[in-house]
Amino acid sequence: MCGIIGYLGYREAYPIIINGLKKLEYRGYDSSGIAIFYDGGYNLYKTIGSVYELEKKISYNIKIDEKKGTTGIGHTRWATHGIPNDINAHPHVSNSNELILIHNGIIENYHAIKIFLSKKGFIFNSKTDTEVLVNLIEYIKNENQLSLEEAVRISLNEIIGAYSIAIVEKSHPERIVIAKLGSPLALGINDKEFFIASDPIPFLNYTRNVLDLKDGEMAILKRNHELDLRKITNNHKLSPSIRELHINLKQIEKGGYKYFMLKEIHEQPKTIFDTLRGRLSNELICIEGIESNIDRFINAKSITIVACGTSWHASLIGEYLLEDFAKVPVEVEYASEFRYRNPIIEEQDIVIVISQSGETADTIAALKLAKAKGAFVFGICNVVGSFLARNVDAGMYTHAGPEIGVASTKSFTAQITVLFLLALKIGKQRSKITHDRYKLLCKELGSIPEKVRITLKIDNIIDTISRNYHNVENFIYLGRGINFPVALEGALKLKEISYIHAEGYPAAEMKHGPIALIDEKMPVVIIATQNSVYEKIIGNIQEIKARKGKIIAIVNKGDFQVSMLADHIIEIPTISEELSPLLTVLPLQLLAYKLAYIRGKNVDQPRNLAKSVTVE
Ligand code: F6R
Repeated sequence: MCGIIGYLGYREAYPIIINGLKKLEYRGYDSSGIAIFYDGGYNLYKTIGSVYELEKKISYNIKIDEKKGTTGIGHTRWATHGIPNDINAHPHVSNSNELILIHNGIIENYHAIKIFLSKKGFIFNSKTDTEVLVNLIEYIKNENQLSLEEAVRISLNEIIGAYSIAIVEKSHPERIVIAKLGSPLALGINDKEFFIASDPIPFLNYTRNVLDLKDGEMAILKRNHELDLRKITNNHKLSPSIRELHINLKQIEKGGYKYFMLKEIHEQPKTIFDTLRGRLSNELICIEGIESNIDRFINAKSITIVACGTSWHASLIGEYLLEDFAKVPVEVEYASEFRYRNPIIEEQDIVIVISQSGETADTIAALKLAKAKGAFVFGICNVVGSFLARNVDAGMYTHAGPEIGVASTKSFTAQITVLFLLALKIGKQRSKITHDRYKLLCKELGSIPEKVRITLKIDNIIDTISRNYHNVENFIYLGRGINFPVALEGALKLKEISYIHAEGYPAAEMKHGPIALIDEKMPVVIIATQNSVYEKIIGNIQEIKARKGKIIAIVNKGDFQVSMLADHIIEIPTISEELSPLLTVLPLQLLAYKLAYIRGKNVDQPRNLAKSVTVE
């Protein structure tokens, strides 16, 4: 998975491409490259490392004139085929040096094509599937004396896999051909310019008019501002549908915070408010996607929730809520497992797919499988207009705003909020929740944004704990009931940004193995808020103390019993057990952030990760 960007217009392409790439680094940042075209030629710069490294390399070594040119393409990579290095970085160039290509996605049948092309005399320098594609296009173009666009179209019909691509012919820099299947591609358009990018954010300063290429579409863009949209399979001409994008640029800036992750953690009072906006009013829950399909939800025999990573943790919380409020059996599955195991889904079943990005490859595949099996598919997603959003039968946006930090934070709490609304609504419609409980929970839900704001004021204690433990190699996270998935989420956050090994467990399960890990060096973060299993949790804390483990406990304000036992306590406001994950996760997000920060890690761009995992 990678970020791609392109420009065709009258301005210098270099600054547009390089700055745009910086905004796409959430998609990958192990290597990057750009090509800037002038009449009759081009300059190509590639490097291992982030876009910052690329910019540095260019400003040290390249004359200003070399950067001039009003057509350009750029790429920031997250390696799939071939290790991150200068050679495997994009753009890739065909053997004759005529065609220059950038690609996001994966060509599954590249090996067979590579063997075929090798027999025809083609040489490959990199280990990438992209270099195979650019040479396939060259081969088909030359063999059949075709225009670039026709050669691209015919080549793409030979491809199995996913792609969004942009390709330029050296001798015709006045034209870019783009195409999409599976991977995202947005086209920005204004009077005299075209902007191409994996998402519209890099070109928002220039235009808000966006054409979202659909799967199986390609476009030929020309400097005279001609736009020719076509279907890849049969070359049928299509009429473009352009939408105006409404987005506040402040939402995608750091706003004084050192990292996007920290900004996004602190945005949660507002994002949860935004998630509730227009959907919860006094005791009324109004959700368009449910109202219009209410019979489906009332008659559902079972619900399966599929997701990956943090969205999967939110799904586990959804399972507790839906079973508790709506009394409907729920299964939660990793999308990557669901898609390959022929699950039993019947027509009256509902499949809920959850994804922040709406483009996670495994989640999308699970969505398609659920639809093929006849399920009613309900989506929960953050990115408006994403593949998921466009392909479910109904759904709800989380309205958390753009999430740039690779580690998901505000999306997680927005997903839980949506699941809470959903579970309450279905519970009420199925008459499985008493009116008094429903009323109380609606009221408490409305108070959550303010309680989140209060909870986040724990800088001092987070700082103290982080300074005590930033050198340890392992952490354990424990929770019970609805807070067990929060323990999993806390451990995931810590692992992915600080590279400290961490495990999450249901607290009582600890006795069945993990307790062997406890010694005086092991910090154990335990969610010990007052709830139906409070006494049991105290028992678990005693067990850890007896083995000299260090206890970091998340407790309700004023807690006495746990405070007597723990090495550190982090207090959160009192709230019903069902809503507690929305508060208990906050200290865990902040703790992961601070530990990573003290250890000097790049919090927003952890190694080996990318924001949207568009490969399986
Ligand atoms: C962890 C994280 C990932 C994502 C996962 C699914 O902080 O961000 O685990 O949650 O890759 O992504 P989405 O929700 O976009 O499908």
